[in-house]
Amino acid sequence: MHRRRIVVGNWKMNGRLTSGLTLAQDLVKKAELNRPEGYDLVICPPFTLSWPVSEVVVGTPVHLGAQDCHVDTHGAFTGDVSAAMLVDVGCRYVILGHSERRRDHGETDALVQKKIQAAHQAGLTAVVCVGESRQVRDAGDAASFVSAQVKSIMSARFTPENLVIAYEPIWAIGTGVTPSPDEITDIHETIRGLFGQAGAQVRIVYGGSVTPQSAEGIIRLDEVDGFLVGAASLNSDGFWHIAQFCHGRW
Ligand code: 13P
Repeated sequence: MHRRRIVVGNWKMNGRLTSGLTLAQDLVKKAELNRPEGYDLVICPPFTLSWPVSEVVVGTPVHLGAQDCHVDTHGAFTGDVSAAMLVDVGCRYVILGHSERRRDHGETDALVQKKIQAAHQAGLTAVVCVGESRQVRDAGDAASFVSAQVKSIMSARFTPENLVIAYEPIWAIGTGVTPSPDEITDIHETIRGLFGQAGAQVRIVYGGSVTPQSAEGIIRLDEVDGFLVGAASLNSDGFWHIAQFCHGRW
């Protein structure tokens, strides 16, 4: 089963107007010279840059995403942004349930599920993050923990187009440590198995300390359909290098 690969850059709370625009412009230049084949290339700047970056990337091979959305379409929710608003400014993707949002904003699986529904209703593809802590892994519970997270979002209406699962073990985020190939394959297979027949079509990407150095070995794993990249997505050369591992087919 051929699954289209996807590489998503999560800028997190990084990027001022000038640096963000430069990063987006550099990436567009690269992508127009060597158009992505067989994979989708997505950048997710902070909300303040959604519109200016949109003006740079819309109509190019670089797609726009955001890092969160609210469950409702509009209303008295100070500081929040709805999925429809993201669509208005050209977003096609939204990262949901990132471990930093679960940690810092108390997001639960139930809330993440509602956000996925809101994203789908607005026509966005949800890039949904799951992953265990070091403690859970050391206790031997990684597979069951991640399974529970994925099961809790399964009732959301999904298609292979509007859902991407990102396996991001918390202990691998920003640490320079990545799981072994067997550990990644094991969790990706577990996640895929939960989707039954549809599993063959669901895209499951890996995230956590992905760099130009670590990406090559990881993308060779059959179960890995791309990457969710944090720090390394803030450098256009590095991010482009990572994306090249998804270009064409191995
Ligand atoms: P790093 O690539 O910086 O480890 O971050 C991963 C991540 O959280 C992407 O969403």
